[in-house]
Amino acid sequence: MAVAPTLTDDDEELILEAVRELVREKVAPRAAEIDASAEFPWDLQKLFAANDIFGLIIPTEYGGLGGSFLTYVKVVEEVAKGCATSALMIAVQELGALPILIAGNEEQQRRYIPKLASGEWMAAYALTEAGSGSDAAGSMRTRAVRDGDAYVLDGSKIWITQGNIADIVTVFALTDPERGPNGISAFVVEKGTPGFTVGKLEKKMGIRGSPTVELHFESCRVPAANLIGPEGDGFKTAMKVLDKSRPGIAAQALGIAQGALDYAVGYLKERIAFGKPLAQQQGLQFMLADMRTEVEAGRLLLYEAARKCDEGAADLTTWAAMCKLKCGDVAMSVTTDAVQLLGGFGYSADYPVERMMRDAKITQIYEGTQQIQRIVIARSLVGRR
Ligand code: CAA
Repeated sequence: MAVAPTLTDDDEELILEAVRELVREKVAPRAAEIDASAEFPWDLQKLFAANDIFGLIIPTEYGGLGGSFLTYVKVVEEVAKGCATSALMIAVQELGALPILIAGNEEQQRRYIPKLASGEWMAAYALTEAGSGSDAAGSMRTRAVRDGDAYVLDGSKIWITQGNIADIVTVFALTDPERGPNGISAFVVEKGTPGFTVGKLEKKMGIRGSPTVELHFESCRVPAANLIGPEGDGFKTAMKVLDKSRPGIAAQALGIAQGALDYAVGYLKERIAFGKPLAQQQGLQFMLADMRTEVEAGRLLLYEAARKCDEGAADLTTWAAMCKLKCGDVAMSVTTDAVQLLGGFGYSADYPVERMMRDAKITQIYEGTQQIQRIVIARSLVGRR
């Protein structure tokens, strides 16, 4: 992708045009197969790497394009129109890089970020545990105990997207259990570190080409140099990362919704019933009108949240939660309606809306459930206590 190191609006439009072409020619045609095989699409990982897509928001000094979050969410949206699994690959690379970008020191940034920007290495983010999903801080059990020039990690994580293919994982662990959220620290753990193993691979309803795994840490010695930020700051880092990554998931959701709407419109224009195209039935037009309105409402929230990421706005936490809440719900309702509009064919795996409906569901669950987003939004109105 030929762009200048510092992106102008024209460069960003060029990127979007190039991504649309890649999606049309290489990504969308692979989506059904990726879903059916449930295998990670390494061919598309290489395609994205070759086109600098993993480096979109990475500063140019670390080999990235130095693009805006607004461009980034638009790229994720474009890819998700064709294949939700592929869009997630881009979003999780961002999620995995953000702890180091936000809280890492210069040495850590120089060591890891260029490799993530180029796609030579993949990243993952390990917060969730068997007993701590929504209550991410309160029920964490993974421990990290200082021992000389290392920390020794013991515990397990679950639902870790790309945990088995990642070259580095940011792991959140308790360094001081007495201090609650302020006793959590973040570490970069490299693949192959003794004591770090990958466990069960989940079988999922959707995003089936994206691997989701358990990670285990048993007397796993991680160099103290891999502590991200000060001890005890890990939970705040985790939350700051989610503020910037939830818009990426909202973009994935929005892309899925737009992809389903586009497909349904095309189908209704072709399908004849009662002597005319289904698109001429007013009852179905009303459904399409509602779908479009919901998609555009989600898009406005998403782009505004992305602008707030770019500005570092003080109310980003609330906007990130609002866009994720809205776009996740829009993805679910629009894909469900798209299946309905196609009738029996919508329920068949021969048509993409069935896959889109299954893929949409996770956007209401991961990176904080819709209920957690509502808690975050409500706290902006009434406070934490
Ligand atoms: N930025 C900075 N600091 C923040 C923050 C933010 N957005 N949110 C909270 N904090 C700080 C608080 O100020 C507080 O610090 P002080 O004590 O110094 O004041 C500390 O963190 C603890 O905050 P809370 O008391 O608000 O913590 P809580 O236990 O009530 O939890 C929560 C808040 C919003 C419910 C949080 O636990 C949460 O977001 N849960 C959902 C977890 C989640 O989204 N997991 C996603 C996993 S990743 C994933 O899904 C990826 C994938 O597969 C693709």
